[in-house]
Amino acid sequence: AEKKGRVEFRDVTFKYPGAEAPVLSNISFTAEPGKTLAIIGSTGAGKTTLVSLLPRLYDVASGDVLLDGVPVTKMDASEITSRVSAVPQKPYLFSGTIEHNLRFGKPEATDEELWDALETAQAKGFVEEKSSGLNRRIAQGGTNVSGGQRQRLSIARALVTKPNVYLFDDSFSALDVATDARLRKALKAKTRDATVIIVAQRVSTIADADEILVLDNGRIVDRGTHDELLETSPTYQEIVES
Ligand code: GTP
Ligand code: MG
Repeated sequence: AEKKGRVEFRDVTFKYPGAEAPVLSNISFTAEPGKTLAIIGSTGAGKTTLVSLLPRLYDVASGDVLLDGVPVTKMDASEITSRVSAVPQKPYLFSGTIEHNLRFGKPEATDEELWDALETAQAKGFVEEKSSGLNRRIAQGGTNVSGGQRQRLSIARALVTKPNVYLFDDSFSALDVATDARLRKALKAKTRDATVIIVAQRVSTIADADEILVLDNGRIVDRGTHDELLETSPTYQEIVES
């Protein structure tokens, strides 16, 4: 069967409600199942805005956002939620148990699936270290776990749903470089058939992506692989050196 999860942005321009100027202009790209697309760019470039358009946190002003050829504006919320898992830049946890948090997108998931997702997200040790395990309670706002743990639990939650498309918005920044590398290796093995879109700050996180989009001031200024961009993109070189 054909793999699902092809994402296409066609000449997308977006303005926040009430704002004067667009924060994204003429964005076009395709992300394919089995591949990793990365988005990098300075703070305020529009990365989070861009990835919020696929799960329809906002709708575009002009252009199209398509999932397997269908405009997302024609899909209902439950279809998008079951097919696209987004790990937000500021991940949220609910007050309740770890289990409750992990099952959020897929209530029928088995315990084995939960542990499998935790292992991939490098969060298994953290959950195992207390005897309460999956029943450990998360305080409101997730204040009793660290930022890095919150990120990893949020990644595990996305993995549990087994979507066609993963969106990771700066999800690896709170991790040390070694954990980041381990997590992405495990992730790669588990998301082989899915489309993976990674927003990153660190070049090391995305150097092995199939394609990298360099975003600046709401526009894609350069695109290519890491090696190509090192040769051709002054903006990319600046990010590498920063
Ligand atoms: P970092 O996460 O800091 O790396 O930035 P980013 O690349 O994710 O930028 P983001 O998409 O968050 O913001 C792009 C532009 O949109 C910036 O100028 C923001 O100030 C603006 N912006 C972001 N969110 C909102 C919003 O909810 N309303 C309005 N009016 N503007 C917003
Ligand atoms: Mg952002």
